Amino acid sequence: MAVEIGGIGHSVARKEDARFIRGKGNYVDDVKLPGMVYLDIVRSPYAHARILKIDASKALAIPGVLAVITGKDLVPLKLEWMPTLMGDKQMVLPTDTVMYQAQEVAAVVATERYIAADGVAAVEVEYEPLPVVVDPIKALLPDAPVIREDRAQKDNHIWHWETGDRAGTDKAFRDADVVVKQDIYIPRIVVASIETCGMVAKFDKVDGQLTVWMTTQAPHAIRTVIALVAGHLGLSEQKIRVISPDIGGGFGGKVPVYPGYVLAIGASVLTGLPVKWIEDRSENIQADSFARDYHITAEVASKKDGTMQALRVKTIADHGAFDAAANPSKFPAGLFGIVTGSYPFEKAFVEVDGVYTNKPPGGIAYRCSFRVTEAAFAIERLVDILALELKRDPADLRMQNFIPPQAFPYMSTLGWEYDSGNYAGALKLAMDKIGYAALRKEQSEKRKRGELMGIGISSFTEIVGAGPSKHFDILGIKMFDSAEIRVHPTGKAIVRLGVKSQGQGHETTFAQIVAEELGLPVGDIKVEEGDTDTAPYGLGTYASRSTPVAGAATAVAARKIREKGRLIAAHLLEASPDDIEWKDYKYQVKGVPAKSKTMAEVAFAAYTNHPQGMEAGLEAVDYYDPPSLTYPFGSYICVVDIDKGTGEVKVRRFYAVDDCGTIINPMIVEGQIHGGLTMGLAPALYEEINYDKDGNIQGGTFMDYLLPTSMETPSWETGKTTTPSPHHPIGAKGVGESATVGAPAAIANAVVDALAHLGVRHIDIPITPWKVQKILKEKGVAE
Ligand code: CDP
Repeated sequence: MAVEIGGIGHSVARKEDARFIRGKGNYVDDVKLPGMVYLDIVRSPYAHARILKIDASKALAIPGVLAVITGKDLVPLKLEWMPTLMGDKQMVLPTDTVMYQAQEVAAVVATERYIAADGVAAVEVEYEPLPVVVDPIKALLPDAPVIREDRAQKDNHIWHWETGDRAGTDKAFRDADVVVKQDIYIPRIVVASIETCGMVAKFDKVDGQLTVWMTTQAPHAIRTVIALVAGHLGLSEQKIRVISPDIGGGFGGKVPVYPGYVLAIGASVLTGLPVKWIEDRSENIQADSFARDYHITAEVASKKDGTMQALRVKTIADHGAFDAAANPSKFPAGLFGIVTGSYPFEKAFVEVDGVYTNKPPGGIAYRCSFRVTEAAFAIERLVDILALELKRDPADLRMQNFIPPQAFPYMSTLGWEYDSGNYAGALKLAMDKIGYAALRKEQSEKRKRGELMGIGISSFTEIVGAGPSKHFDILGIKMFDSAEIRVHPTGKAIVRLGVKSQGQGHETTFAQIVAEELGLPVGDIKVEEGDTDTAPYGLGTYASRSTPVAGAATAVAARKIREKGRLIAAHLLEASPDDIEWKDYKYQVKGVPAKSKTMAEVAFAAYTNHPQGMEAGLEAVDYYDPPSLTYPFGSYICVVDIDKGTGEVKVRRFYAVDDCGTIINPMIVEGQIHGGLTMGLAPALYEEINYDKDGNIQGGTFMDYLLPTSMETPSWETGKTTTPSPHHPIGAKGVGESATVGAPAAIANAVVDALAHLGVRHIDIPITPWKVQKILKEKGVAE
């Protein structure tokens, strides 16, 4: 029965793939409206410069160019700045100063896309270069040029955030037998989703209705933001419809509001025509929000026997020219407080300082629950460094220190209540599956022969599902999420959600939750997301929150329907509602299985034969406010071989054990993990965005921003343990980002392990052949 229904735990084929594999997806760039015009953007070649003059005359002389919009044009509309999620403001277009290379300077609207590009090339801008700061540590020096002269505070410091017990932690460090300390830089990267960002904006001058099709992970929040920012121009919320059609990868990069969106809306309001703006690949890499860019100094205090006692972490966070990080309002450093990881530290103190530099703004949660990847990398690297210091096996040291299964729910010293976990179980499974003992033996034999092989472990804990609304909000909007289910008379259903899939398979997995709860076949349930005119209000999909929050809302809404259905079933079966139970996906009279009604029969009756006095219909809505977050975890083991000639690191094996509680669709979860692992491999070995001293971007195209291809990606091996979340209605935790969070440390640990006998303790990622070869040469072992 369950197999026919395709409920929870079944690898139901993804419903959405029917259109994706035929090339029939409907992305923003597929939207074509009559009379549509195109917008392209003039961008700054300088990282910091005063704009002396913008001459648009040559651009406006090009046939087909309809308008050139500059910052000065936006001033009367009060649109030259826009608020950011972190309480800062960001330029839509500059009126006098640009603050990073590739920043938007002006917009050109034209009848054709290529004419808009010609217009961009013809706009003449005169700049006066200003001093540039790209290093956030230098940006904090007293003589550093001030980037944000618009602020009352005349330095580059944005905010200080701290958590934990400073005095207690300092004391624990003073009293400790052993202390290890490491500077760790986690470089700036970008999400590089297949689809770049874009919008089609259609403003109807007659009825004042604005419809936008846009690449957003959070359509409802965007609608409210548009109403708040442009309400003074008559754009009120009932007249704004945000449609987020199919999205070709979001990964956090499609949460922020980029100036291009505002400009497309502005251009449509100005011209009365539908306007399309689609950024190109270079714009996407060079100007959209970045991730990471954390300069971390982390220390662990431990006893001689390896018991870890205290953790101290100090971080400089480079936020670029505006603080446009995509975090919940009260968490400027995201959920970095999960940095104590899988270990029961008695004391911890963590501080982060946000700093302005002449770089693009951002600090998005790139496939990560707001700075969790940074936290997991820091703690998992530190554990390995401690193991080296104590001459202990890193697996053994972890096993000694893990929070034990019986300690859950576990309150971390930094105030996070972990719901459930079995860390030792996950690591043991990974060790057994990969053959850890045999690998260590092989490594020691190879070392004698001078060969470089390393084994790296990462036993990470995530924190996903923002959030309990008492702690989490975005611009004041509480972080709940929603589901609305309607069961039609013929027993088919539609589910509408406040979240928005970007490739994760929601059309399948949310249907599976309803199938399980209502006993309707998964194929009879349609899932719809991403249209603010139809979907209930929700905060969107990022930070792996869909399953923990909207998944819970879906289960609860379905249970509301099931409860109403019970009354209808009682009516149909001429029994008391108290005698009706839900069993084997049917309503049954207790103890009389032959007397039963299916949900389809009950649904028909809800419209044709419902009890007198009861409202007709069968539908329910739930706005779910999670009581707590969920804490997925995993243990990854990576085996690398290093070429002593080229310095190239080859990932020979990678075994990933993940635990995301109850699994809805094992095939989708495995796919999520495979993708996440590749996105974890990428920053570990390849990807990085750098800037030269003048603020010129290095790595701004796919020629030098090295996305791993199938050639670089190893054959991932996966396994699982299942530790349900006790507070989630179906016991599920999120999974979409676990692998991206856990993988980089496993890979970095493996590389350092391969070189540890040469005295290497740490290498900053990405661990490129160049970096490794330099070390091999210094150590005199290069071939
Ligand atoms: O918020 P987002 O959809 O990115 O992440 P997620 O909640 O971790 O879910 C990613 C995909 O994996 C969705 O299709 C989920 O329904 C599915 N999933 C699952 O099948 N079982 C879980 N325990 C968690 C997620």
